Amino acid sequence: MKAIRVKQLRQGNPTIQLEDVKNPMISGPQEVIVKVLAVGLDGTDKEILQEKYGVPPEGEDDLTTGHESLGVVTEAGAESGFQLGDLVTAIVRRPCRNQSCVNCRNGHSDFCQTGEFVERGIKGAHGFLSEFYKEEGRYLVQVPKELLKHGVLVEPQSIVEKVWDQVLRVQQRLIWEPRTALILGSGPLGLLAAMTCRLLGLEAYVWSKSPQDSLQAQLVKDSGGVFKEAGADSSSAATMTAYAEGLGKPIDLILECTGYSPLAFEAMSVLAPNGVLALLGVTPADRKLEISSDMLNQSMVLENKCVIGSVNASRKDFETAIYRLQQMEKQFPGWLDRLVTNRMTLEDVPKLDFNNIPIKAVVDIVPVEQWNDLVKQMNEVVYSFSV
Ligand code: BGC
Ligand code: ZN
Repeated sequence: MKAIRVKQLRQGNPTIQLEDVKNPMISGPQEVIVKVLAVGLDGTDKEILQEKYGVPPEGEDDLTTGHESLGVVTEAGAESGFQLGDLVTAIVRRPCRNQSCVNCRNGHSDFCQTGEFVERGIKGAHGFLSEFYKEEGRYLVQVPKELLKHGVLVEPQSIVEKVWDQVLRVQQRLIWEPRTALILGSGPLGLLAAMTCRLLGLEAYVWSKSPQDSLQAQLVKDSGGVFKEAGADSSSAATMTAYAEGLGKPIDLILECTGYSPLAFEAMSVLAPNGVLALLGVTPADRKLEISSDMLNQSMVLENKCVIGSVNASRKDFETAIYRLQQMEKQFPGWLDRLVTNRMTLEDVPKLDFNNIPIKAVVDIVPVEQWNDLVKQMNEVVYSFSV
């Protein structure tokens, strides 16, 4: 089968190639073979494909990338919990083997505390940018057929759901009636976060370096949010403070989705008393910053502010993501379609220029026109088996 491989990652001189690799084969009753329909690309893939990130499986030099997947079950082990024709996406992270990791030992690998976890397509395990993959049923999440078109967005939305769940848990410390959210960045994550805030009944303000007449801006406005272009001085975090203060209202929640660390620190000072600042983005850099540490410390302490980091997501977050994406499509039909700005084939990936992707790229392993028939066919097979 065909797969996108980042070759020779360990040698430090990697290349990206479309390769012929062995088809996966079921080796236990819990396992499932999935035929991949599509894989979404995000900033992590960009970093891996630009050779800054990514770890191949133990004993190998190459890594199949891709972690945002949608596929159809084509073989299902008797104890997998899945059936032929099921539409599925996969959880990204696998628990570490360290017995002392209480989170991995209890089904919370998204809170792994040893760092020895494995992530498919990212760290220590092949991903999904291939025609098929094999997985244990417990790491798959069933996607309803109604979400066929947007199922590839379940993984990125799961990141938003995890952070919202964390925020709610933290805020059980008080009576919290949030009204206003500020989202920093308008990549796929920022846009999904803004839309989610709107669905949750929050006012959503998006601060971004994208222009005021961009598709990003339009998508924010169409979700009922407010878009603000950072302007020429977009690298100056101080202009964000001026914007936030100019709103003249307390900002209860800030979701930092740019990964630009100076902005993360700046955000602490614009957060309302009792507010939460959630950090979701990273960029591989080594910036040093001079901050008003006393002032920040004082406002964090005296106003009960909270900063949390959030990465990855659990099965529950994937399930909420499915619900939320359906809600988005129902209340804002077509909005999710517009988020996916680039569709391509596996053959296009090695020559892909990430700088030419306005918002989100999806790799169609099976052409979209064939998805419906394929899923229907697979389900007819299941039906004829069961009579
Ligand atoms: C993925 C997460 C993953 C993180 C760090 C993100 O792009 O969505 O599942 O944990 O990268 O590797
Ligand atoms: Zn662990």
